[in-house]
Amino acid sequence: MKICMIGTGYVGLVVGACFAEMGHQVICVDNNPAKIASLQNGQVPIYEPGLEQLVERNVEAGRLSFSLDLIESVGHSQFIFIAVGTPPAEDGSADLTYVMNAVRQIGASLNHYAVIITKSTVPIGSSEMIRGVIRAELERRGMSDLTFDIVSNPEFLREGAAVGDFLHPNRIVVGTDNERALQYMKELYLPLTSLGYPLIQMDIASAELAKYASNAMLATRISFMNEMAGICESVGADIERVRQGMELDHRIGSYFLSAGVGYGGSCFPKDVRAIIQSASERNVPTHILEAVDKVNHQQKKKLYEMVRSHFGDNISQLRVAVWGLSFKPETDDIREAPSIETIELLRQRGVVIQAHDPVALQNAYQALGEQNMVYYSDPYQALMDADALLLFTEWKQYRAADLKRVKSLLKQPVVFDGRNLFDPERMKEAGFVYQSIGRT
Ligand code: UDX
Repeated sequence: MKICMIGTGYVGLVVGACFAEMGHQVICVDNNPAKIASLQNGQVPIYEPGLEQLVERNVEAGRLSFSLDLIESVGHSQFIFIAVGTPPAEDGSADLTYVMNAVRQIGASLNHYAVIITKSTVPIGSSEMIRGVIRAELERRGMSDLTFDIVSNPEFLREGAAVGDFLHPNRIVVGTDNERALQYMKELYLPLTSLGYPLIQMDIASAELAKYASNAMLATRISFMNEMAGICESVGADIERVRQGMELDHRIGSYFLSAGVGYGGSCFPKDVRAIIQSASERNVPTHILEAVDKVNHQQKKKLYEMVRSHFGDNISQLRVAVWGLSFKPETDDIREAPSIETIELLRQRGVVIQAHDPVALQNAYQALGEQNMVYYSDPYQALMDADALLLFTEWKQYRAADLKRVKSLLKQPVVFDGRNLFDPERMKEAGFVYQSIGRT
């Protein structure tokens, strides 16, 4: 089957490469010439485990190609996926500028039946809006008889595990309003459904909301556990024990119960705010989601507060080592990462940051620049003469750190651990001042 994937960001590139791997013919389109040129040269502009090999293999097999030409690509495709970014607008709602640009171009160039699918996370009602824009464009071109279908097919891909998540999905959600589009979508996903992965069909609005509700639920679990961690600290309990006491209950389960420095990334913060905004436009109260967002904002300041309460108000002479800049391990993505917000707060007060991350240094450099920042490719060098170590991301190599070496390099043996990587007792025995989340 012939697929046009509009947008070659995290979602579009992964989904496009995976569809090619499933045997489909995929053309990925983007309006950024540098991106398309580098992809055409075999360079994948993002860090996503397994993606580079997948792209290479499918380009070689002639199933995957890249183009700047949306109009020509649409002309050759039965399935047109919209996978462009929906960044947050100032009021928290999703900014649909890129989506609408793509949709107008689809409407201006469509000349055969196609299934038009939203893969980007769009506000509820967007798919209907897209249908209206395409209809209007077709009418303008005197082609109102041309049929097309609109489908909502949200992605549930975790960064760092996106390829595996796509090829081994928990579920494939397909929102349609007619049988024809459903049959096409079933055919498209046959290589996965024939292996037993479930495809769930529903109306378009429910599919759009299923995506937001899933992310909001996971964000809620995290904020809930972060709130519990605060209570643990005040009563002398240990959040890791509390979690163990919860997770064997099958009704609760063990996922997304880790307390930490708050959730970041391109999805949870944005999606929680977008659903709040979307509900408020319809005068629907969102008490739980507002609390989830608020708790997360507070939690992201947790390590900053630890620095302030340990070193006092005058921190302008400090040098602080930071391990982990990405919002979670196995990605170079620093969007809404707790590390970045904390670093901003610290350097506003004159603190010098000695930063390490296994893959996100370049992105961090672009976002933070050089003022009060020193970047290290060796985690131990980042510790030299630092007054404290702040840990933001649970990269495996940090968990396996040589703590003797850490202690000998730091000027003061102070560790503020935002991911509970180490045992507090052992850290104290080793002579560290050690603070973590929800443990005393
Ligand atoms: C998420 C969803 O998981 C995915 O289904 C969706 O489509 C896109 O958003 P992603 O943003 O890649 O994926 O990150 P995820 O692995 O879900 O983690 C999100 C954040 O939650 C991270 O900052 C992580 O550190 C934090 N987290 C996660 C916790 O603080 N505690 C946990 O127990 C789990």
